[in-house]
Amino acid sequence: MEFGELLYEGKAKSLYKSEKDDELITCFRDDMTAFNGVKKDSFQGKGAYNAAVSAFFFDYLEKNGVKTHFIKMLDDHTMVVKKLQMIPLEVIARNVAAGSIVKKLPFKEGQVLNPPVIVTDYKDDEKGDPSLNDDLIIALGLVTPEELKEIKAVTLKINKLLYEFFDELGLIFVDFKVEFGRYKDTILLGDEISMDSMRLWDKKTRESFDKDVYRFNKGDVMTAYAKVVEKIDEWKREHLK
Ligand code: ADP
Ligand code: CDP
Repeated sequence: MEFGELLYEGKAKSLYKSEKDDELITCFRDDMTAFNGVKKDSFQGKGAYNAAVSAFFFDYLEKNGVKTHFIKMLDDHTMVVKKLQMIPLEVIARNVAAGSIVKKLPFKEGQVLNPPVIVTDYKDDEKGDPSLNDDLIIALGLVTPEELKEIKAVTLKINKLLYEFFDELGLIFVDFKVEFGRYKDTILLGDEISMDSMRLWDKKTRESFDKDVYRFNKGDVMTAYAKVVEKIDEWKREHLK
């Protein structure tokens, strides 16, 4: 498949036109950023790890009834996806308190959130991704009330599926962020589901296996990411014989 023109270069991925008008080619780059782009580095092979994990989860979610933009992999860090009209919302689900809610609100790090909490941030780096409530989302015209209900329900479904998946792998699915977009008359899950967009803790030691390793210099981020990929590969060998 031919790469078309570069449409967008984000902090970690590049989007290219494809041969088809309703498809895009997404390249997962090795770049890593944190704190809204203030901390920046590059780690060889990181893009491929995140692409592989995202592709695996898109496939896993599709098999469990969640509609996603994923079509296929082109190589180890490149995927073909359906072209979405992205909804500028970062939909975050939290099972355990960590990160910004511990900084901003009187939650204790590690406090279990049951039922899980959904937080919706407006996706705008320049404005620092401010938090929105339902009324603001509707007033801004980002989605209809019915669409918001659907987006939250799908996010909770993804959360349950992945919480149970990681639990089997000995990891706590602390929190994660997803993005949705419009495709024809449906809303699909877009973007990525990777170690860059979630928090994962070892059940016993509480060690991080996600971007926090990079954010807070907790060790070697590539070793942490490789561990998650290895555990998923082991799961595949057991379950997809
Ligand atoms: P950022 O824009 O936050 O720096 P990335 O580097 O990950 O993030 O860039 C990927 C961009 O592609 C994001 O803005 C995301 O909203 C957008 N995107 C993800 N999936 C699709 C899709 N299927 N169609 C169109 N845009 C998409
Ligand atoms: O990452 P930070 O602590 O600043 O923000 P958070 O609101 O605590 O993040 C919650 C979850 O969403 C974490 O798993 C982040 O990695 C993820 N997230 C993301 O992928 N992209 C963002 N722009 C913000 C959060």
